[in-house]
Amino acid sequence: MSNFRGKHILSVNQFDLDSIRQIFSVADQMAPYAHRKKRTKVLDGAILGNLFFEASTRTRVSFGTAFNLLGGEVRETAGMATSALSKGESLYDTARVLSSYSDVVAMRHPDSGSVAEFAEGSRVPVINGGDGANEHPTQALLDLYTIAKELKFHGHGIDGMHIAMIGDLKHGRTVHSLSKLLSLYRDIRFTLISPKELAMPDSVLDVIQNAGHRFKVTDQLEGNMDADICYQTRIQEERFESQQEANLYRGKFRLNQDIYTKHFQSKTVIMHPLPRDSRADANELDNDLNLNPNLAIFRQADNGVLVRMALFALTLGVENIISNYDCDVQWFSTKSEATNNEN
Ligand code: NCD
Repeated sequence: MSNFRGKHILSVNQFDLDSIRQIFSVADQMAPYAHRKKRTKVLDGAILGNLFFEASTRTRVSFGTAFNLLGGEVRETAGMATSALSKGESLYDTARVLSSYSDVVAMRHPDSGSVAEFAEGSRVPVINGGDGANEHPTQALLDLYTIAKELKFHGHGIDGMHIAMIGDLKHGRTVHSLSKLLSLYRDIRFTLISPKELAMPDSVLDVIQNAGHRFKVTDQLEGNMDADICYQTRIQEERFESQQEANLYRGKFRLNQDIYTKHFQSKTVIMHPLPRDSRADANELDNDLNLNPNLAIFRQADNGVLVRMALFALTLGVENIISNYDCDVQWFSTKSEATNNEN
């Protein structure tokens, strides 16, 4: 078993199959709390420093919600402009100070390597919520957790699966981290579909290839791909030199029910880290897929809470004592787990 207690979570390179199994088994135990069947106060008194120096909805709020669901409190800093980083303070100094106000820190920042730099100055564990185009390890874990659950529903495991990744594979940190995690498994087939200029970086292709997996790089959706998973992504406009350059790619790879029927199997699971760009000229994942039972995007986002709860429990060393601090839910709750027939 890996020991996550007191450790930073900065990159998917830290994980092996054993540690992934451990995280997923703790995540499974979090379901009754996330679905409000019961409460726990195991982190009563603990403080999460939730530092988001770049736009975020799901990751920021699900980190906070996960911590609250374990009984802890959340202190939030959102945006660079309201932080002393905009006055020229170094990441190291910011880390020295803010980490003494918190028991654990979750952080997102626009620069690659920034979260690791912050971690060097931190007195408490730091969890990477996305550092530029580099990595997004917690998203990769929740994506993998979702893939495992969805494929299990269809009677498969992860080994031997075929994933099609579509969109901005150059700047998309989620596909970088997910590809590396998937490379830990056996015989994965990758079809990597993007405009040529936005292809998956060689550093990630090397990981895939060195682990013995097959991949195909292409700039179009071709034929019926027999993919088990279709992982659509957003053109990462904020990473381009100019908006004009980003506009060149907007709307290049759309997915709607007709395109899905043409290129995928009737059971192909549709994923997207979200947000999907729903502006008319982008419309990368059409609303006409909303009732398709294979659209897993909201189940995927829900799983983010379970996986982040597991990571907090493990880094703060409470994974085995959560139920000792259980209490009842007093209010009427309609929450339950979304199934594959219900988005
Ligand atoms: C992704 C991100 O920020 O990298 N979103 C997320 O964390 N769920 C993907 C994106 O913004 O396109």
